[in-house]
Amino acid sequence: MQSVLAVAAVGGLVAALAERASNKNSINLPPAVPGLPIIGNLHQLKEKKPQQAFTRWAEDYGPIYSIKTGASTAVVLNSTEVAKEAMVEKFSSISTRKLAKAVSILSRDKKMVAGSDSGEFHRNGKRHIMKSLLGSSALKQYRASRDTMIDDMVSTFHKMVSDDPKTPLNFREVFTSGLFGLSVAQALGEDVSSIYVEEFGRVLSRDEIYEAVVHDFMWCVLEVDWRDFFPYLSWVPNESFETKVLTTEARRTAVMRALINRQKERIARGEARLSYLDYLLAENAELTEEQLIMLIWEVVLEAADTTLVATEWAMYEVAKNPEKQDRLYQEIREVCGNETVTEEHLPRLPYLNAVFQETLRRHAPVPILPPRFVHENTSLAGYDVPAGTEVIINVYACHMNEKDWDEPDEWEPARFLDGGRFRSAETNKTIPFGGGRRICAGMMQATNIACTSIARFVQEFAWRLKEGDEDKVDTVHVTAYKLDPLCAYLTPRARGTE
Ligand code: HEM
Repeated sequence: MQSVLAVAAVGGLVAALAERASNKNSINLPPAVPGLPIIGNLHQLKEKKPQQAFTRWAEDYGPIYSIKTGASTAVVLNSTEVAKEAMVEKFSSISTRKLAKAVSILSRDKKMVAGSDSGEFHRNGKRHIMKSLLGSSALKQYRASRDTMIDDMVSTFHKMVSDDPKTPLNFREVFTSGLFGLSVAQALGEDVSSIYVEEFGRVLSRDEIYEAVVHDFMWCVLEVDWRDFFPYLSWVPNESFETKVLTTEARRTAVMRALINRQKERIARGEARLSYLDYLLAENAELTEEQLIMLIWEVVLEAADTTLVATEWAMYEVAKNPEKQDRLYQEIREVCGNETVTEEHLPRLPYLNAVFQETLRRHAPVPILPPRFVHENTSLAGYDVPAGTEVIINVYACHMNEKDWDEPDEWEPARFLDGGRFRSAETNKTIPFGGGRRICAGMMQATNIACTSIARFVQEFAWRLKEGDEDKVDTVHVTAYKLDPLCAYLTPRARGTE
C-alpha cells in the first residue's frame, strides 16, 4: 500500500507541476476551493451526496468554482444561468461525457444514449428513441398502456385499503411494480412475470428481474473506484470493486439477453407488437446482440427509475400537507366533476402542474447531471475553462438558491402560480431534465405519467402520512431516491358527494 501512496505522491507532484506550467498564461481561472496536495478536495467529498457540499461551497466561492478530485480538475456550476451557458451556448466545446469507472463498465463503454459522447451514435440513438417511444406521436401510441397502468395501481390501492384499512400502505411497492411493467412492455412488447436465464440455470421471478435490471445498477453506480481520481495508478488492481461491478454487469446482460431472446421468438412467429424492440429490429437488422441489449436495457432503466422518484416525492408532500392536498382536490373537482382525470385534463389543472414542477424543483430527481467534459478550451461566466476539465452541473444548488427562490427549503407549489394561472416562465429557472441537445428524452412521458397519477391518486383517496414520517426527507442513489419509502393511510373518497 505504501508503494502505491509513494507513486501517487510522485504522480500528483508531476501533475501539479505540469498544470502550473500550462496555466502560466491563463489569467482568469474560476476560483478554486482549497484542498490538500495530491488528493485535492476528495476528503471533503466523503459523503455520498456531494451536491450538498457543492452547494455549501457556492455560498463562499460563487456559482462557478473549481475543485480537484485527485489528479483531475472539475468546475462545478451552481446557477441555472451558468449551467445553461454550458449546456446550450458552449455545447460545441463541452459535448463529451466523463464517466466514472463503474458507469463505464455498466454502460459497456458509453454504449447507451445518455452516457454517450455527442456524435453519430448519440444522434441516431436519440432519434430512434424519440421516433418509436418518447416523441409526441409515439407517446400517443402508448396512451392505452399508461392509462391501464394507472387504473391498475388505483385498483390495487383500493384493494389494499379494503383488506387492511388500519395499516399504512407502501406506495413505492405498488408504483414501482406498475411502472416497471410499463417500462418492460414498451421496451419489449409485453410485461414479464418470470424468465429462464441460461447463465443462472433457473427461472427468475419478476422481482429478481427488476433487481438485476434496475435496482442493482442504481446501487452499483455508487461504487467508487479510487483509480478514477489517480489515472496514473490504473494498473493497480482493485479487486473488490471489479468483482462487484463486473458481476452486476454480467447479471444485467444475462437477464436482458433472455428477455430479448424470448421476444425474438415471438417476432419470428410473425407476432408483431408495439415496442422499441420491434421497431429497432425492423429498422436496423444489422444491430449486434450487445448493441440491442444496451439500447433496450437503457430505456427500461430510465423509464422505471426517475418517474418513480418524482411521483413518490410529490405524493409524500401531498400526504404531508393537507391544505395543499385539499387545494389540489378542489381543483380536480372543479375541472373534472365526476369524470375520471385523464391526460386531456392536464392543461386545465394549473395547481397540479405547480405541484409537479415544485416537486421537481425541491426534490430534483437527478441532483447532479451526468458529468460533461471540456474537449476544447472554452469560457464560462467569464472565466477560462481549459480543455480536459470536467463539468459538474449541480441541479440541486440551481433549485435551492435564495436569489431565485423565497424560502427554497419549503415545498410551495403556489410559487409556480400567478393569480391561479400556471407561470410557465418560472420553469426557466429550473433544469430538472438537463438542457440543450442532451435534454432528457423522456420528459413528456414522465410528465404525463406523474401528473395523471398524482391527480388520479388524489381524486380517489385522501392521503395522510404515517405518523413520525414528517421529516423523512433523506435520499440515497445518484437519483434522489427517497431513503424511506412513502407509507401513507388512504381513505377512499366518495365521487360526487363531497
Ligand atoms: C421525472 C422523470 C425524469 C427526470 C427528472 C429525468 C432527468 C434526466 C436528466 C437530468 C438527464 C440528463 C440530461 C443532461 O445531461 O442534460 C436525462 C437524460 C435522459 N433521459 Fe431522463 N428523466 C426522467 C424520465 C425519463 C424517462 C421516463 C425516460 C424514458 C426512457 C428518460 C430517458 C432519458 C434519456 C434517453 C436521456 C439521454 C438524453 C441524451 O443524452 O440526449 N428519462 N434525464
